[in-house]
Amino acid sequence: MLLGVLIIAVSLAGCHPVPLSDSASKKGVGSIIGVSQANMREEWRIALIDELRDEIDKNDDIQMITTDATDSEGKQIQDIDNLIGYGIDLLIISPCGGNALREKIKEVYDSGIPVIVMDRAVEGFDYTLYIGPDDEVIGQQAGRYVADLLGEKGGKVVALSGKPASVQGEERLSGFRQIIDGQDQIELNILYPASETKDASYDVIAASKGIVESADVLFAYSDSMALGMCDAVRDMGLEGRVMIVDCDGFKGEDEGIDLVSQGRLKATVSCPIGGREAVDYAVSILKKESGVPKQVILRSNIIEKENVEESLAKINAGGDDDGRTIRVGYAQVGQESNWRLANIKSIEESASVFNVDLHMEMADQSQERQFEAIRQFIEEDVDVIVVSPVVETGWDEVLREAKAAGIPVIMSDRNVIVENPEENLTTTYLGADFTEEGRRAMRWIRDNVKSDEGGMRIMEIMGNAGASPTEERGEGFREILAENPSYYIAYSDYGDFTYEGGREAVRKYLEKNEWDIDIIYAHNDDMALGAIEELKAHGIKPDEDVKIISVDATKAAFDAMIRGELSCAVECNPMIGPQLMKAVRDLCSGKQMPFRIITDEQVFDQSNADDYIGKRRY
Ligand code: AHR
Repeated sequence: MLLGVLIIAVSLAGCHPVPLSDSASKKGVGSIIGVSQANMREEWRIALIDELRDEIDKNDDIQMITTDATDSEGKQIQDIDNLIGYGIDLLIISPCGGNALREKIKEVYDSGIPVIVMDRAVEGFDYTLYIGPDDEVIGQQAGRYVADLLGEKGGKVVALSGKPASVQGEERLSGFRQIIDGQDQIELNILYPASETKDASYDVIAASKGIVESADVLFAYSDSMALGMCDAVRDMGLEGRVMIVDCDGFKGEDEGIDLVSQGRLKATVSCPIGGREAVDYAVSILKKESGVPKQVILRSNIIEKENVEESLAKINAGGDDDGRTIRVGYAQVGQESNWRLANIKSIEESASVFNVDLHMEMADQSQERQFEAIRQFIEEDVDVIVVSPVVETGWDEVLREAKAAGIPVIMSDRNVIVENPEENLTTTYLGADFTEEGRRAMRWIRDNVKSDEGGMRIMEIMGNAGASPTEERGEGFREILAENPSYYIAYSDYGDFTYEGGREAVRKYLEKNEWDIDIIYAHNDDMALGAIEELKAHGIKPDEDVKIISVDATKAAFDAMIRGELSCAVECNPMIGPQLMKAVRDLCSGKQMPFRIITDEQVFDQSNADDYIGKRRY
């Protein structure tokens, strides 16, 4: 397609503004990325377009066409049709929100055009990749910072909440309140500016003299609101007497980072833009590379005067991979399940492809052995340590040792809970969304297993105690269960993610009870398969007498669904080797790591198992 034709066609369609990438004229058209922006009014959206354009300009054979939906859902749908009309190969969209748009995104995705959704997650998973921040986490970071600032003595905090507040604003404020509301020594007042603008924020602060004068900290969830606050505080003669903290941390004059440098803001919690990551993944998608995740949640950092330079260097770091061999120490859980064997194979195979010298230690489900492995890797002075932790807690000390040795740690497959997230003891988490897996299991039950008058009795066979998949699969399941009171958990037991553990759970139940369970929810396939064997040994027919739902969706689970024994398998993708190795190389080349990288997963049952079993490699 000729570039001139593109420019004319886009202009005629009246999409506004529609700049092709600045250097477009010097390029030949290879792939075209359409960018549908919700509006070009909010500053970070403008910043996103700039970042996308800068990154796309580094790729000689990619063009970018941008449209501005001016906050109108109808216009954004029209914009997308126009972009498709111009022959785009990939769509990047920052959606206005709304059901019709969700349908449109699904339609584009189903038509085979990859879609990267930015900033606002759309419900469901009908897109190629989501990239954005976690606004609740951003608010929590701000809350923890303010709580630390005030210490045990406490004090008074005033926070702004736009009227109406944007979704991001609400989530940030909610995260902030989750921390601050729990602190008895802090008194929180909320003020409601008429909008989320600088001027409205100025007005509400200026009009609330009494409250503001007695406050110790003011909090705004965006740079523009914070600027209004700063101006009002200055005009009220309170500068230096009250500290101001905000979220956004954009670059540019009078944006968060600049206000921190000027000493007008005490700190800002950065909200990464994600344009660089979007283009990076867009290129991988266009090249049909493997290992593209489903969600990339970007990392936000606290920026104070002391670390402005360091933070800017991190934000600007482009990341140059010199191609050298990278030495990685991997503390693996063990070999407890078929899932784990597939996971180990995927990691080992990818290591050689990505020129990574991998040293993997199996811990046989022992945290102590994982500590030993990590300490050994520190001794060996590897470049990166990767951990799939057996349990979630208890890692702070050994992670601090790795940090002190200057060795970054990536969490793979399972995450940890640390005492103080601001210590940044780990760089990123790469793996599944276990909570969503639990939700999916219960949603399948709700939609496929009719409840009777007495209610449906569920037996839950959990993984090992304290492991993140155990905890989170349990939480997600209960979240949906709570909305469906005619189903309830009658019995729970641990099966440690092993086949024998699943058998044992059923055996123990039958030793004391007549069989009265309607549904078994097993946290993995191996336990479900063990349970099935035990049921059969007692003459109880799996799927007929009791529905069985598991997580993982390994080949063995597909066989069991096709045999009519397993009812449903929620996927947990073990093939994360390529994504992990890409993360290792990115980390070593100085790129800023996302907060979380979430894998792509689906739900299978007897109705579609046949279609997929042929493609199953594990
Ligand atoms: O952490 C992932 C879980 O661990 C898998 O679902 C399970 O099979 C494994 O042992």
